[in-house]
Amino acid sequence: MLRYVTTNPGKVREAERYLRDGSVERLDFDYPEIQAAELGPIAAQGAREAYRHAGEPVLVDDAGLFVEGIDGFPGPYSSYVEETLGVERVHDIAADLDDRRAAFRCVLGYCDGEGFAASPDPVDRGDRDAAAAAGPDSESPDGNENALPVKLFEGYVPGRIVAPRGEGGFGYDPIFEHDGETFAEMDTDRKNAVSHRGRALEKFAEWYAER
Ligand code: IMP
Repeated sequence: MLRYVTTNPGKVREAERYLRDGSVERLDFDYPEIQAAELGPIAAQGAREAYRHAGEPVLVDDAGLFVEGIDGFPGPYSSYVEETLGVERVHDIAADLDDRRAAFRCVLGYCDGEGFAASPDPVDRGDRDAAAAAGPDSESPDGNENALPVKLFEGYVPGRIVAPRGEGGFGYDPIFEHDGETFAEMDTDRKNAVSHRGRALEKFAEWYAER
């Protein structure tokens, strides 16, 4: 059974469309997030932590809002910034910028403890072989706990920061406009059709069906 690991009900609502055939279940586990300048390593490490916890194949979802005029901030720090500054303050900061373009990015990390053609970063071939040989519950022989292979799937959507509009969605959705509508003004299907998460989930679903 594949576990979609998140504590965020908004993500689950969006993922359900892709995960609805009964072969996937949500796991409400708050895996520790490392700090890193990019989403990929955060998702990869999260997938390993979640796999160690669940002992079953897992999919984790790390996302962020990248505002171009402030060098991609808050990016990987989006969660901390939402909790501390809040979404409206992020809009206020962006409102003073000439360039209000922004993007959402999502990285899904899949781990099942087995050897497979994992994403090249952040694990190398030697680590993957060692992890596969060591088995899912073991540390790799060199003690490198990063050894479990992880496959990453990325999604991206461009847009711009606007004053908050709309009642739907979650997180930064009210201040992110794509194609004339904020994500909070879209229903789940419409958001999925264009969103960072929808695109990453589509790629994952295709790969997973083959697997
Ligand atoms: P995380 O992926 O759970 O770490 O989320 C990072 C931050 O981005 C949190 O503040 C989320 O609320 C926000 N976030 C993640 N995905 C979305 C989205 O699809 N729309 C709006 N905000 C999001």
